[in-house]
Amino acid sequence: MRRRFALLRYAPLLRRCFLLLAAAAAAFDARAALEAATAADAWLSNGTAPATWSITREAQLEHFQLLSEGTAKSVRAATFKRRRVIVKSDRSSAHVHAFRGGKADAAAASVAAMHRSELRAELVYLEYLRGLPGVPDLLGGWVDGAGVTYVVEDAGTPIHVVHHDSRMKDVNKYMMLARRRPLGVARAILDCFRSFSEIGGFFLDDFAPHQFAFSGAPGSPRPPRLYLVDGPKALAGRSPVSDLIAAMPKPHALDARERACESDDDCPGTSRQHCCCCPHKESTGVMAAECAGRRRLVHHNEHTACADGSRGSPESKGLCNPRKRCVPLSSRTHSFDVGAKAWLLPFLADSADRGKRPRTATFLRHLAANMSYVGPWRRASFSDAIAMLDAFNRSLDGGEAA
Ligand SMILES: Nc1ncnc2c1ncn2[C@@H]1O[C@H](COP(=O)(O)OP(=O)(O)O)[C@@H](O)[C@H]1O
Ligand SMILES: [Mg+2]
Repeated sequence: MRRRFALLRYAPLLRRCFLLLAAAAAAFDARAALEAATAADAWLSNGTAPATWSITREAQLEHFQLLSEGTAKSVRAATFKRRRVIVKSDRSSAHVHAFRGGKADAAAASVAAMHRSELRAELVYLEYLRGLPGVPDLLGGWVDGAGVTYVVEDAGTPIHVVHHDSRMKDVNKYMMLARRRPLGVARAILDCFRSFSEIGGFFLDDFAPHQFAFSGAPGSPRPPRLYLVDGPKALAGRSPVSDLIAAMPKPHALDARERACESDDDCPGTSRQHCCCCPHKESTGVMAAECAGRRRLVHHNEHTACADGSRGSPESKGLCNPRKRCVPLSSRTHSFDVGAKAWLLPFLADSADRGKRPRTATFLRHLAANMSYVGPWRRASFSDAIAMLDAFNRSLDGGEAA
């Protein structure tokens, strides 16, 4: 009861924050964003770089250093005018070489096009949401014999370590920042998710700490920032940009339509590292064996993404509601994630405790609970959560100390 009265005290502030956030959301021009994203995607075929790009040639960069090599792209750090930038190159031509042995070129090209879809979807995400908090600035790119390369701002330190990166020691930075500025980090997380998920209509099912990078220091006057550095998927039918992505040779999109079902098995779930479950549909490989044997999840990503009691929402496991309709994935699915993944809000609440901020810890647990109700319609949206956080921060004497 007392807690409810405490929240009522913030009502006028909450209203003001809601209005401000509504104005910010209105400022996002989806039509102009779609035009820009379409132009960036067309660059791959017509070679015309958008006017906003300041890098169009490899020769503009120096001091390359390999960070990681995934299936779709290799990632390097470099410098541009002495500033560190991140360079991502398409690896689809490598796949073409591997595939070619005796096959027709047309088939090889179609394999390359499939792999390139992932990269195209990331370009579309970056250009569609350009300028929003938590979205790395796309600085440019070029196409040469080796394939497509694009360059983004260095978003900082991954929440978790990245292979080949000499900054292994930075793994503790997130911990230190969270302890000193739990509300600042929470705000950065909410801003980032609000941008890509609530405004953009994207969804991250490759859900792991290393997909996010952060910047900020405990004593800095600048607020901490969190960025989603890897390209998320589109929720089909949920935003104007999803059609563009859904039309690619391998759509980087997830099904989020309402549909009829008899049981949970009829409803699409997400990946294991997102739902923190053994999806009922998964049937092959090591993962299935692990699930069958109820063994601990050992895969690096899943281990860190789902460790320490992290939970996924009911609909991310595939959920048929009593009216025999699948509960669709949505931005509220990510509300649940932020409230229930151990490395997001619960971690910040524990960090606030460790930093001797009991009121902040209580508030963050309360916020996490509001974001992770079983029913998606009851969960706080990211805009709601930001308004609550800002109101709470203002209620502290002088706000959160840096
Ligand atoms: N803009 C960026 N700023 C800082 N680090 C980044 C950035 N982009 C990628 N990285 C680092 O490189 C790693 C791999 O990049 P990512 O785009 O996720 O490739 P992949 O698709 O192979 O997973 C990330 O986990 C992150 O640590
Ligand atoms: Mg990644």
